[in-house]
Amino acid sequence: MIGEPVLGVGGMIPPPDGYWPRVQEVLRAHGILLVLDEIVTAYGRTGHWFAAERYGLQPNVLVTAKALTSGYIPMGAVLIHDDVVAMLEGTAFRHGFTYNGHPVGAAVALANLGIIEREGLLQRAVEIGGRLLDGLKPAEQLDAVAEVRGVGAMLAVELASGHDAEGVGADARQQGVIVRATGQKIVLSPPLVIEPDQADRIVEVLGGALQRLGS
Ligand SMILES: Cc1ncc(COP(=O)(O)O)c(C=O)c1O
Repeated sequence: MIGEPVLGVGGMIPPPDGYWPRVQEVLRAHGILLVLDEIVTAYGRTGHWFAAERYGLQPNVLVTAKALTSGYIPMGAVLIHDDVVAMLEGTAFRHGFTYNGHPVGAAVALANLGIIEREGLLQRAVEIGGRLLDGLKPAEQLDAVAEVRGVGAMLAVELASGHDAEGVGADARQQGVIVRATGQKIVLSPPLVIEPDQADRIVEVLGGALQRLGS
């Protein structure tokens, strides 16, 4: 089974309580491997190095990219559990890309992971995400807003049916706040280093745009 621990681009949708532990139990009972797509969630965004830790998962394969280098160089990494390696019984699993293990990519990833650790960005994801969530949550009172939700520094505003997020995105952009707005959803995945006053500015601008939508 392949799954995202928290749906990212799909709308920052957290799993229901107990969902992942139960899925893991069923998969184990039937000998099915779990491949966790942590492209969005790995390396701090949920307040943990991996969302797997947050949800008590021991995936067999864990797929990562984005925050591995914070985008300074394109790089991904696939982490494979020893139990999968053992299945190969010493046989080489042949795969290859021209730029596998590129030294520049590896150096950037190591430097970037060092910054995340030194600057306490896991904790910061929780603080910044919490600040944004607290600031945006009151927008749920508006008829045009169905839900404001978040996990760590992954947040979304879901509009009520019949409302178009793209107009909200365009409104916010005019005031210098760029959000991803498609369909009925506005998703936020800010850099973990943004300052509290920048988070407050996002709340002010996006909150205003949502209010104008409701009026
Ligand atoms: C959860 C998830 N998986 C995979 C991908 C695709 O990654 P790539 O751009 O490396 O193909 C994305 C891209 O945003 C993603 O959000």
